[in-house]
Amino acid sequence: MAKLSPSILGCDYLTLGEACKELEAAGTEMLHLDVMDGIFVPNISFGCPVIDSIKKHTSIPLDIHLMIDRPLRYIKDFAKYADWLGFHYEAGSDIDETLDEIHKLGCKTCLTIKPKTDPQEIFKYLPKCDMVLVMSVEPGFGGQSFMMNALDKLKTLKTERDRLGLDILLEVDGGVNEETGKLCVEAGADVLVVGSALFKATDLKEKAKEYRAL
Ligand code: DX5
Ligand code: ZN
Repeated sequence: MAKLSPSILGCDYLTLGEACKELEAAGTEMLHLDVMDGIFVPNISFGCPVIDSIKKHTSIPLDIHLMIDRPLRYIKDFAKYADWLGFHYEAGSDIDETLDEIHKLGCKTCLTIKPKTDPQEIFKYLPKCDMVLVMSVEPGFGGQSFMMNALDKLKTLKTERDRLGLDILLEVDGGVNEETGKLCVEAGADVLVVGSALFKATDLKEKAKEYRAL
């Protein structure tokens, strides 16, 4: 059984309110919000004003995925809304300081790695992580194909987490569909981020339930 964190990146923002109600009814555990700055990734998405509206409208815990350069500069702004606040290991802020700041502001931490980053590089930060996000596409765009090397990374992180006896969720993001999602769960993923494969469903609520049962 996986937890589901739908990525709203590819959805119709004008009907997002209704989509949130359906996802709530399906028991969705988190809502994944992709913040892009056009510098760390070659795309721009949305920021605090949009997240403020979403937060007022839904009771689903928010899983904010910052794809921004030097994220420490913006932790205070996004911590107002986040339950889980994630940032990239590769984004140029001091990792310990950023993880500490997120905790200080009362949020859970999510350290995120790109497809080419070796998971061993983040082992030393695991004691300060509440969740680790393994990207299974190059961050920046929804609708890309799943990169199979994410499975080995999940296995490596699961082995290390269990060896250390830590309470960390392993999340995977990018190209997750029913087939790749199943492989991720088998490899140790606790949380599936699903964007396009979920939002193209005619019955969002039923599809969300199916993903939660993977
Ligand atoms: C990519 C984002 C993902 C993405 C997921 O940079 O972090 O959350 O939108 O979308 P799909 O599931 O379509 O790959
Ligand atoms: Zn994401």
